[in-house]
Amino acid sequence: MFRTKTCGELRLENAGQDVTLAGWVQRVRKMGGMIFVDLRDRYGITQLVFNESADAELCKAASQLGREFVIQVKGTVSERSSKNPKMPTGDIEILVSQLNVINQALTPPFTIEDNTDGGDDIRMKYRYLDLRRTAVRANLELRHKIVMEIRKFLDSLNFMEVETPILINSTPEGARDFVVPSRMNPGQFYALPQSPQILKQLLMVSGFDRYFQIAKCFRDEDLRADRQPEFTQIDCEMSFVEQEDIISIFESLAKHLFKTILGIDMKEAFPRMTWQDAMKYYGSDKPDLRFDMRFVEIDGIMKGHGFGVFDSAAYIGGICAKGAASYTRKQIDALTEFVKRPQIGAKGLVYARVEQDGSVKSSVDKFYTQDVLQEMKKAFNAEAGDLILILSGDDAMKTRKQLSELRLEMASQLGLRDKDKFVCLWVIDFPMYEWSEEENRLMAMHHPFTSPKLEDVDMLDTNPESVRANAYDMVINGVEVGGGSIRIHDSVLQQKIFKVLGFTPEQAQQKFGFLMNAFKYGAPPHGGLAFGLDRLVSLFAKLDSIRDCIAFPKNNSGRDVMLDAPGYLDQSQLDELKISINNK
Ligand code: AMO
Repeated sequence: MFRTKTCGELRLENAGQDVTLAGWVQRVRKMGGMIFVDLRDRYGITQLVFNESADAELCKAASQLGREFVIQVKGTVSERSSKNPKMPTGDIEILVSQLNVINQALTPPFTIEDNTDGGDDIRMKYRYLDLRRTAVRANLELRHKIVMEIRKFLDSLNFMEVETPILINSTPEGARDFVVPSRMNPGQFYALPQSPQILKQLLMVSGFDRYFQIAKCFRDEDLRADRQPEFTQIDCEMSFVEQEDIISIFESLAKHLFKTILGIDMKEAFPRMTWQDAMKYYGSDKPDLRFDMRFVEIDGIMKGHGFGVFDSAAYIGGICAKGAASYTRKQIDALTEFVKRPQIGAKGLVYARVEQDGSVKSSVDKFYTQDVLQEMKKAFNAEAGDLILILSGDDAMKTRKQLSELRLEMASQLGLRDKDKFVCLWVIDFPMYEWSEEENRLMAMHHPFTSPKLEDVDMLDTNPESVRANAYDMVINGVEVGGGSIRIHDSVLQQKIFKVLGFTPEQAQQKFGFLMNAFKYGAPPHGGLAFGLDRLVSLFAKLDSIRDCIAFPKNNSGRDVMLDAPGYLDQSQLDELKISINNK
């Protein structure tokens, strides 16, 4: 046997046993006539001891070991004289009788320790070494555990795992496609799935009833901490269901994961909030409810007192930061700079401190009497020691989004975004459509297969922007971890939705004809949801970026720096694909 035990499993009760271990040299320490080697594998670290007085030659060989050498040792498990309570194997060591150096190693470009000296770039370039670090490996182990729990859970409810193809046509999830040229069909391209949306709906037409897939999805969009160009969905679909059935099953799945993975018992039903309320009170369709700081609109109180900025605003609203009246002028200036950053785009920030005596001191004092400021204080439910932060603007939705950024920033500064606390929420009743400034037309907010609420269908022709969808997102700690909808299963209604989206019948037929045709052959009512697995794992692992729970992630420019992808093609390959590159 190459090894009889792993480096993580030996304990005091194994003392006296002869074992064979194999792994990587983490560290070598020489003390007098002894050499101590920490041997590491996936399961842990075990201390090896080489004793010069017992075997000088063996000890000499051990002294030549370097970091990350791959070795195999035979020896006897022995109780340590100085135990290390921080290590699971810290009560024992191996008195080595035989050493086999299997592979030498170059000195790694960074230390393979939890607190490594390697920066981000170098660790990504040598990701296979980074993955040797316990902290990074633990994230992937957690990912594996979560996937196994999800598979077990869904299988127990009759969900069937079906793989769908990667080389397909454009899928309308709102991002750009990654495309792949077809050699056998010159000039034609496959698109990689942005999600298996259409295919899972076709599986429902096929009668599969309860489907899931751990599905790779590809979206060419701007990258952020919670977005990768290639990511994984837990993609699910069900037939003969209503919105309530889906919410109930996937809420149970989330609770099951909290229980089995983190030991957290979530007994209460997840609260629900309409999209309208989420935008009104938090300026976001994924509000972080670990803390309150709900928006208060104060147009009625603050308008008409001669402060031009407020008098001409379409929206004046703010948040109350509890206990933050101690913020210095410098800190408030920094917040003002924060909201004025081009990504946020506010013009300025008005603040008001509630003093210890209850009086309000604001940056726009000269326009307001203490009576008006007291009225404002009351609207915010503010108390002595609180800081009120106010934004205004001529577009209510834009100003709310700016205020949402300020709310999150303030919460971070006040330490309210505690990673050990989990607050879940369903956001429901999304609008069917949103206006795209870029495209100057209505776009589906979710995707064009989402069913409108039956009671709103009449407004499709007259007032489409008010039509609500049977769509829902699961939000945890301000992260959209999953989303889905009840789908349209009627080809006539589907045609109508395409029409509102500006497709001619011919365009709709050309793009989605196969789906509408399928609906003519007996489509069951159906709906589903997809979780973003990477986001779920990074929440559970309390990470800042989903990159850390992906074995080989891309950087912010969409590059795999280890593989150096994407890369150029040879001319012969381009010729074969009948592609010419326009270098201009
Ligand atoms: P949606 O586009 O909301 O819905 O995606 C579902 C979930 O996938 C995750 N996600 C991402 N994760 C990492 N990187 C990305 N670039 C990325 N984009 C999305 C999010 C999101 O909630 N077909 C529908 C689902 C359905 O209707 O059943 C869909 O794809 O966590």
